[in-house]
Amino acid sequence: MFRQIYRFQLHFCSASLQEIPVSRTTNLQGLAIVAMELALQNATHTLSVIKELRRNETWGHPFASACLRDCDVLYSEGVITLVDAVAVFLEGKYGSAGAWLTAVMDGTTTCEEGFGDMEEASQLTEQNYSVFQLCDVALCIVNLLVSHA
Ligand SMILES: *[C@@H]1O[C@H](CO)[C@@H](O)[C@H](O)[C@H]1NC(C)=O
Ligand SMILES: *[C@@H]1O[C@H](CO)[C@@H](O)[C@H](O)[C@H]1NC(C)=O
Ligand SMILES: *[C@@H]1O[C@H](CO)[C@@H](O)[C@H](O)[C@H]1NC(C)=O
Repeated sequence: MFRQIYRFQLHFCSASLQEIPVSRTTNLQGLAIVAMELALQNATHTLSVIKELRRNETWGHPFASACLRDCDVLYSEGVITLVDAVAVFLEGKYGSAGAWLTAVMDGTTTCEEGFGDMEEASQLTEQNYSVFQLCDVALCIVNLLVSHA
């Protein structure tokens, strides 16, 4: 499913949104939900990785610890925000769903940048990549629905 979603983004979402006829948007709601569910799964998984990293921590890396603590907060909020995004989406509030997805992407970026600011190697680069990407796919579909509403 993950691969399908990525392919979907490559071949569909990166295309000009305006070129897609309304008749082809009928299943977009379902796809948007799937993308958000995958992002939620991935963010939840990331949170467990963060908790494990924090548990495994050894003394002597105070900056990395601070970054991980921030990321813990950011991804915790991200998980809640994704649940909210699905909820408002189901109510037909596509614009709000898009705003929540953007907030989650900002969160993963802030987490990642935290390591950069502290000149620490990020332990969450792949996680940022996946969660960000999945939110981006969902956002693309949501924007498509907004533009055809
Ligand atoms: C999260 O994304 C990664 C890709 O980097 C993927 O391999 C993994 O299966 C995903 N995990 C979940 C729980 O969705
Ligand atoms: C945490 O430590 C355990 C035991 O050393 C190890 O198996 C595991 O991979 C570590 N987890 C992370 C996220 O580094
Ligand atoms: C997070 O991942 C996305 C790709 O999904 C990438 O474009 C972005 O640059 C990454 N953010 C940071 C701060 O590395």
